[in-house]
Amino acid sequence: MTCKLIHGDCLKAIHCLPDNSVDAIVTDPPYGETAFDWDHWVKGWPSEMARILKPTGSMWVFGTFRMFTKHWADFEGWNLSQDIVWEKHNGSGFQSDRFRRVHEMAAQFYNGKWSDVYKGKVVTLDAQKRSVSRQSKPTHFHGARNQTQYQSEEGGPRIMRSVIYARSQHGTAVHPTQKPEAIIEPLIRNACPEGGIVLDPFAGSGTTGYVARRLGRKAVLIEADNQHFATMQERLSGDLFARA
Ligand SMILES: C[S@@+](CC[C@H](N)C(=O)[O-])C[C@H]1O[C@@H](n2cnc3c(N)ncnc32)[C@H](O)[C@@H]1O
Repeated sequence: MTCKLIHGDCLKAIHCLPDNSVDAIVTDPPYGETAFDWDHWVKGWPSEMARILKPTGSMWVFGTFRMFTKHWADFEGWNLSQDIVWEKHNGSGFQSDRFRRVHEMAAQFYNGKWSDVYKGKVVTLDAQKRSVSRQSKPTHFHGARNQTQYQSEEGGPRIMRSVIYARSQHGTAVHPTQKPEAIIEPLIRNACPEGGIVLDPFAGSGTTGYVARRLGRKAVLIEADNQHFATMQERLSGDLFARA
C-alpha cells in the first residue's frame, strides 16, 4: 500500500485506524470561511486525531489566523511548536477595506515530548558562503545550551525559511481549494520519516497523498465529499501518477 483512500466523515472513519499508527498528520481542514457547501469547521476533529499519532509524531494544519483563534479550544491538549506562511502568487477574496490577502498559514502541533518528536531537516540550496560560531541559548523547544559552529558553501543547503513562496493552483486545480505540491512537500519532509505514514483526514483531491508517494512515504487519506473523493481516486491512480 502507498495510499489508502477512505470515503467518509473523518470523525467516523478514524475509528478504523489503530492507536499510534501514523507518523504524521498533514491536513488542510475546512476553515469555515467560504461559501462551499463542504466548508464547515468540523467540531472536535483535532482531539479525535491525537490517538492515531505516534508519540514521535506531529500534526501540520493549514488555516488562517482567524480560523485558529476562533477554534483554539478544539486544540486543547496539543502543543504549538511553530508556524509557516504560504505566500501565494495571487490571492482570493479581495476587499477594498483590507490588505490584498496573498497568504495562508500552517501550524505544527505535537502532543508528546518535543524532544521525542521527529524533525526532518528541510533545506533550500541557496546558502551564502560564511562561517558561523555562536552559543545558542536554551529555549523551551531546543533544550540545552550548546555551541553551534558551521560553515556554509555558496549555493549549498540552508534551513528553509518559514515564509514559503509557492504558486497557487489557480487555473489548473482539480479541487477548489487545492494546495500546491510545493507547500505540502516541506511539511511532509519535516514531519514524516521516509517510509512512514502520513494521515490527511480532509484530503480533498489527495495532494498530501500525491506528494507523500513521490517522497517515499505512505498515506492514509480521508474525504467525505463524493465528487472530491472521485477526483482523488483518479488523481492517485497509477496512470495519472505516471504522467505527472
Ligand atoms: C480545504 S479542502 C482540502 C483540499 C486539499 N488540501 C487539496 O489539495 O485538494 C477540505 C476537504 O475536506 C473535506 N471535508 C469536509 N468535512 C469533512 C469531514 N467531516 N470528513 C472528511 N472530509 C471532510 C471537504 O469535502 C474538502 O474536500
